[in-house]
Amino acid sequence: MSEQRTISAFYEQDHDRLDELFKAFQKMKRSDFPKAKEAFKAFKFGLQRHIVWEEDVLFPLWEEKTGMSEGGPTFVMRAEHRQIGQQLEAIHGKVAEQNPDSDQEEQALLDLLGSHNMKEERVVYPAIDQLTSAEERETVFRNMNDIPEERYKLCCGQH
Ligand SMILES: [Fe+2]
Ligand SMILES: [Fe+2]
Repeated sequence: MSEQRTISAFYEQDHDRLDELFKAFQKMKRSDFPKAKEAFKAFKFGLQRHIVWEEDVLFPLWEEKTGMSEGGPTFVMRAEHRQIGQQLEAIHGKVAEQNPDSDQEEQALLDLLGSHNMKEERVVYPAIDQLTSAEERETVFRNMNDIPEERYKLCCGQH
């Protein structure tokens, strides 16, 4: 039996998983810093991986299917990834010096991610599901798996 995986379901689940890791970091950072740091690290690598998946595999497929790149939704999403990456590094800087006072940076990141993820979930992912066959989606998942860890498992990321 072939299971029909959708881009929407998979990527929404990853957004949710990342949200939970970030919440765990926020909840624990003033009571158990080492544990909070572990959650932040998992969040950081996970978010960097998510962004690489989108930029290297998912968005190019959308751009190929629609002929839209410059000025289109993926162009905007890529620009937002750069802003997200900046806030991520701002928090990372504080975590690295064991400083829990990153509430402002955390809020800024949550605001960016909130609207970014909503746009992806409402517009980009459903459109890609509509434009692709089940086989093409399986290729997407395979290509995501083939990306080497070094592309995203960076402590001080390139994003
Ligand atoms: Fe994204
Ligand atoms: Fe996303």
